[in-house]
Amino acid sequence: MKTAIYPGSFDPVTFGHLDIIERASQVMDHLIVGVLNNNAKSPLFSVEERVKMLREVTAHLPNVEVQSFGGLLVDFAVQSNADVIVRGLRAITDFEYELQMSQTNRKIAPDVDTIFFTTNLKYAYLSSSIVKEVAMYGGSIDEFVPPVIAGYVRQKFEQKRELIK
Ligand code: PNS
Repeated sequence: MKTAIYPGSFDPVTFGHLDIIERASQVMDHLIVGVLNNNAKSPLFSVEERVKMLREVTAHLPNVEVQSFGGLLVDFAVQSNADVIVRGLRAITDFEYELQMSQTNRKIAPDVDTIFFTTNLKYAYLSSSIVKEVAMYGGSIDEFVPPVIAGYVRQKFEQKRELIK
């Protein structure tokens, strides 16, 4: 039984993430989506909200589980008995950081390897930061995230606008 961890901030989950989750879940027996609990990054959504949103949009995938983690990714991988870490590569600009991260992780935990999925061309430009930027200025994010997530993002920015009134 092969278990993989797909880690990330997912603030919020996009169609690009979902594409990787769906494809990785087809080649793995068990896929754990690991949501980083790191307030230093000042996320838009709390870790509980990000986990909830991911659970909603992956509910149709029976071998996918969503969990939060803090600390080192490789420690979470070892605790979860994961064989591999899955990451998506959108463009050459992702490569340097991803290479450094996977080599560091392999140095710390030699038994946990990283495999990369190249992002579907349709979503090569997409990132959670772009989604937030567009939504913050009132633009439509319907092309970037599932409808339920678009609703949560809109709601979050409305709450923020109310707070600064
Ligand atoms: O979606 P992101 O923000 O690009 O994901 C980055 C993530 C969560 C994979 C990375 O920041 C991470 O693994 N953080 C946990 C801490 C850790 O293990 N750092 C060492 C990596 S070399």
